[in-house]
Amino acid sequence: MTHSQTSNSADAPYDVIVIGSGAAGLTAALELAETKRVLVLAKGSLTGGSTAWAQGGIAAVLDAGDTFENHVRDTMVAGAGLNDAETVEFVIERAPASIDRLVELGVPFNQESGDLHLTREGGHSHRRIVHVDDATGWAVQEALLKAAEASPNITMLGGRTCIDFITDRHREKFSAAGRVWGVYALNEETGRVERHIARATILAAGGAGRVYQFSTAPRGATGDGIAMAWRAGARVSNMEMMQFHPTCLYNLEVKNFLITEAVRGEGGRLFNPRTGKRFMEFYDATRMELAPRDVVARAIDAEIKRFGLDYVHLDISHEAEEFVKGHFPTIYDKLIGLGIDMTTGPIPVVPAQHYTCGGVVVDLFARTDLPGLWAAGECTESGLHGANRLASNSLLECFVYGEAAASDILTMWDQLEEPPEIKPWDESRVTDSDEEVVIKQNWTEIRRFMWNYVGIVRTTKRLERAKNRIDLLMKEVEDYYGQFRVTTDLIELRNLLQAAQLIVRSALHRKESRGLHYTLDYPETDEAGEPEDTVLVP
Ligand code: FAD
Ligand code: SIN
Repeated sequence: MTHSQTSNSADAPYDVIVIGSGAAGLTAALELAETKRVLVLAKGSLTGGSTAWAQGGIAAVLDAGDTFENHVRDTMVAGAGLNDAETVEFVIERAPASIDRLVELGVPFNQESGDLHLTREGGHSHRRIVHVDDATGWAVQEALLKAAEASPNITMLGGRTCIDFITDRHREKFSAAGRVWGVYALNEETGRVERHIARATILAAGGAGRVYQFSTAPRGATGDGIAMAWRAGARVSNMEMMQFHPTCLYNLEVKNFLITEAVRGEGGRLFNPRTGKRFMEFYDATRMELAPRDVVARAIDAEIKRFGLDYVHLDISHEAEEFVKGHFPTIYDKLIGLGIDMTTGPIPVVPAQHYTCGGVVVDLFARTDLPGLWAAGECTESGLHGANRLASNSLLECFVYGEAAASDILTMWDQLEEPPEIKPWDESRVTDSDEEVVIKQNWTEIRRFMWNYVGIVRTTKRLERAKNRIDLLMKEVEDYYGQFRVTTDLIELRNLLQAAQLIVRSALHRKESRGLHYTLDYPETDEAGEPEDTVLVP
């Protein structure tokens, strides 16, 4: 038996399975590996998640002039009151310790006069973003992977596309208790489906950004984790709150390169290229370019639509050349390669989907509704972000909840039963597909109508149009799924559609505009009573 062909029941070689090798998954794995044998599974490469792409940094109160209360308030203002106050405090108070751990792991954060350098981003009232130049995510991913590789108790397997959780339905003797015992995963090399079984499973599979045609998220952000948890019976909430980053590079060749919010934090200004005017004063005269993301993204969208533009300009060329190159070396190099010199002229930018605020409902212990399943990171809805995530609070959430999941599993360990006998994956009724074109066609179609009908500005009519398309496609894809052998593309398409359905259902449910959800049919925020999460129950 190899590690990838997991056996059954008590001789399962791992104690805990972690799905995802980004910030949330590896934080949990490292915490557990002191005493437990951990298997980390990842789709494609181990660096394929959003973590490696993060630019701006990680928010933490580290400056003497700043306070937890300030960070809490900024988070709740950005989140338009939909945040859970207890969660916000829980995460923000643990931020400095998370940064200390990353420093111990060797993350080379920028320093100034012996202290960590703090940059600023939209929605933050203080400088509080620690960073590694403008490529923080890559440095964090590298440090976490290095530590995990060095741990004898962690096995990491890339090239495994998880399909569905193994639940009580898959026991040799069926019981309806709904407990999770691991996961079925496609080995991308052999094309065979493996069973991975353990006492505890942590879901850390990232977001669903690729449901949109334009997104800064990597190719694999297809909402697999959210869709898997939903199918297994977990509640999902606030899926209408999809975050659009205001400044993605507009370029016909490079479609998803982010221009970090820190460019505006360090003085970058937005201009209408037709009028030559700075336009944020018409949308948020006080906070201007440093208003929260939803405000800036909507302002750019409005300006583009009103003037029939392809893009707006982001300009930091008024700052000294050395300052710009010193702060943004990755972006500078990338743009120079495309013929754009940000030290002498503006950068053409457009909004693009960036972050999934909603997800699988978790509590402060990172527990989901399903016994045996914990979840952390972008695939979850913990209550931290509310209706709009504050910049650089996301990596932070991954560290805090990755650790919370691991601690809870360790605390509960003796109460977690040994896995039962589990049935192998049933392939007896499927054949190889002879129509891969169906998958490609549907992928493109979903992403296009989600962008056009369920984007930055919504209407009930457009949402209903999207819903009708999704209902039809879901039927088509489920038929296809039932007939043919699974491939990563098919698994992702099925999940992408599931995520799209959850987003549209949630958006139709909310009869107001709040944070990232803006609809012309209900343009006002409902101020009567407490703001309510949109919770969908399977
Ligand atoms: P990810 O890092 O996305 O990892 C997901 C993991 O799950 C991957 O290993 C993937 O292979 C695996 N996976 C997915 N599906 C499956 C499956 N079916 N089977 C097996 N494995 C699967 N946040 C900040 O706080 N600060 C920033 O500066 C910042 N900058 C960003 C810049 C960009 C361009 C982007 C896209 C995001 C940025 N974010 C930032 C957001 C932040 O990077 C992410 O929210 C965070 O990294 C998510 O981490 P995660 O561990 O939850 O998931
Ligand atoms: C950025 O660098 O602008 C991204 C920060 C974030 O998504 O939190």
